Parts: sequence; structure tokens; C-alpha cells
Amino acid sequence: MVDTAQLDLFSEVLHAYSAERGGTLDNATLYADVAERAGLPEELLSERVPVGKAGQPHNLIARRVRWHQQTLKHAGILQRVEEQRGVWKLTEPAGKDLNRIGPNVGVVGFSTDLGVAILGASETVFERIDTPITLCLTSPPYALAKARSYGNPNEAEYVDWICRTLEPIVRNLVRGGSICLNVSNDIFMPGSPARSLYRERLILALHDRLGLHKVDELIWHNPSKPPGPVQYASIQRVQLNVAWEPIYWLSNCPQALRSNNRRVLQEHTERHLRLIRQGGEQRDAEYSDGAYRIHPGRFGNATVGRIPRNVLTFGHSCADQRAYKAAARAAGLPAHGAPMPLSLASFLVEFLSSEDDLVVDPFGGSFTTAKAAERLGRRWLSTEIMLEYVVGAATRFSDAGGFMQNLRMAA
Ligand SMILES: C[S@@+](CC[C@H](N)C(=O)[O-])C[C@H]1O[C@@H](n2cnc3c(N)ncnc32)[C@H](O)[C@@H]1O
Repeated sequence: MVDTAQLDLFSEVLHAYSAERGGTLDNATLYADVAERAGLPEELLSERVPVGKAGQPHNLIARRVRWHQQTLKHAGILQRVEEQRGVWKLTEPAGKDLNRIGPNVGVVGFSTDLGVAILGASETVFERIDTPITLCLTSPPYALAKARSYGNPNEAEYVDWICRTLEPIVRNLVRGGSICLNVSNDIFMPGSPARSLYRERLILALHDRLGLHKVDELIWHNPSKPPGPVQYASIQRVQLNVAWEPIYWLSNCPQALRSNNRRVLQEHTERHLRLIRQGGEQRDAEYSDGAYRIHPGRFGNATVGRIPRNVLTFGHSCADQRAYKAAARAAGLPAHGAPMPLSLASFLVEFLSSEDDLVVDPFGGSFTTAKAAERLGRRWLSTEIMLEYVVGAATRFSDAGGFMQNLRMAA
């Protein structure tokens, strides 16, 4: 006898609607599919037992599956197919292999002792959060001259959309907390090699509307970036190949910044160590019309490490990302196409927050910010609208303390 009350069929129900069937399924097929995946004997599907005060005969498996179906419906993941009784589908297919959750709902995808990954639209989830945030490190979807059906906002609406998304996060930002935005510099005016000025408009709007100050525009130098813009650099030969992306660092109170470069000191170069060993500079000289002076003994103090410069060189491919992509594909899930290297996210999380601080990412993707926070002992909260990305990212956290996975799709 199977105790159906003990069965967790949620993930089986979710899986049954996955892309293999175009996300559409009638209930009879659903019950059979779930029973098979859960390893339940077929005869259980025809067994009926009296339920409730009225003692109406019901099949307990079908009942439990319908219950999960309702949960998914309320989560906005499932919806009825119009004019077809008993046929349901995953909401809003959002391109190849991707399904987007509807607005106004959030479901926990997975969690650890330190953080929670939520399948939900950032604007919906953060609107309901009332907890002090120390750092928001995020790469929003890029602005496109022409909006795509599955997510990227139109350039004309971009500034307003980012401001609206960040508004609840800024409201909860601790004094001196940081917002780090990795956006693209490679948005071109239609039919032109000239770049869009949306970045300039964005920074002015974040200042004027949300009171954020620009602390720095960090340069993420990515030596492994593929060549481009192809049209203007390789074909017309009027532009140079791109090697960097901006990361805007903003704060509500630059006088009280929570950052500390002592946390991210780098090793001194051999040349600098030699200089220290020899007691510093031997020269006495003046440069730049006296603005810069070198005198004997300068740079001779032994220091713990080198203060990093604000050009951050990290290739986008790293061992951690490769492992994530392989694990997602092995689980039959699409791997995220635009992940940030874990090394870069870790550098920023360590520099801009302390242990136990809350780090958030409203556009989780493969949950790299969350992973960096987890490794560094920060609490974290990330949202992502694509079901498959949330499920795929869970593979990166399976070793984390207190790991619990609520959404699953793998066969
Ligand atoms: C550039 S990617 C982020 C990549 C991420 N930094 C990483 O390392 O994997 C942006 C992500 O935002 C998600 N997204 C778009 N609109 C969203 C929204 N309203 N709420 C939550 N996530 C959203 C997209 O599905 C996409 O995965």
C-alpha cells in the first residue's frame, strides 16, 4: 500500500509539462506519466477510495496530482488551454527550451542555509522584501534596439524599467551600501557604428530618481570576449573589437561606503617586492610639472598586498562556469548563455560586503552572484524568471549547507 499523503509529486507534475510535450498535457496522460515517473504501480490509478464526510470515491493519486497542478496554477506556471477541458500547459513559452513564470508570483526554486533562489519576476519579489541589503550585484538583460519576445527590454523603455526594478532594492539598501550594474556598452544606434547614449541617461536617472551616486565606473576587461561588433569592426573596419564591459558602482551614501579594499588585496609584483627590499626608491625626481614627486625611500614600506586597480581583468570562461554548463546540459536543461565569471562576482562581493551581509541579484541567470555570496559566507537572495535557469543553477549549490531543492525538471 502506498501512502499517497507522503508522496512528493510536485516535481513529477512539473516535469510532465516540460518541453518534451510542448508544455501541453491532458489530465489522463498527466496522471499516467506522474505515476510512471514516481514508480507507482499502474493499478493505483484505477483504485478509488471514499474521501471526506460524504465518502465520495476518489483516486488518491489523481487527487494529489490535481493539488500540485493547482499550486502550479497559482504560481502562474500552469494555465488552462482555452476551450479544451482538462488540458493544461506551462505558461508563456519564452523561446527555445525556456518557460517564463507569470507576473505577481514567486516560488522558491532552491535554498541553502545562507540564501534563497526564487523563480519570479524581480519587480514582484523585491517589492515584498523588507530586509536591509548591503550589496546588489547584477547584470540586467541587455537593452535592445528592438525588443525580443522573451525578455530583453526595448532600449527606449530600458532606463525607466531599470529604475523601477531597482527602486525597492534601493529602498532597503543600508546606508553606504552598493549597487553594481554590469550593463552593455555595445548597444549601437540603428544602422550606425555610433553607440547609444542610454548608459549616460541611465546613470543620470538613477541619480535623479533614486538618489544614487556614481562611485565608479569599473571596467571589466574580458580578454576572452569574442570579436565584435562584427558589422563595424570586421566587415566595415570602422570600429575596434570590444574587450570590456562597464560595471557601474553606485551608492546611496558614498561617505559611508561599506567597501574595504583590504579584503581584496593582491600579491605584490616581484618588481615591487624588490623595491621594498632595497628600501624604496633611490631617485629624487619630479613629474607632470611637479604634480607627482619621487624621493629616496618612497614605496619602501612593506605592505600586506597591492591595492587592486579599477580595471578588473577576468576571462568569462572559468572552471566553475564550465562545470555548471556541463551539469545543466547533463540534466537536459539549457545552460545560461551570459553568465558572469565567478571570479569577478567573488571579487566584487568580497570588496563590497562583509560576512553575513545580505547580497541580492534581481536577475539571477545562473545565480553567479548568489554562488559568490554563498562561498564567501554572505546571505543572499536572487530572482530569475526562467524556470529552466533556476532548476539548472541548483546544480551549483548542491554542496552548500542546508541545500534544499523545490523545483526539479530532470528526467
Ligand atoms: C544577463 S542575465 C544574468 C546573468 C547572471 N549574472 C549570471 O551570472 O548568470 C539576465 C537574466 O535576467 C533574467 N530576467 C529578465 N527579466 C527578469 C525579471 N523581470 N525578473 C527576474 N529575472 C529576469 C533573464 O532570464 C536572464 O537570465
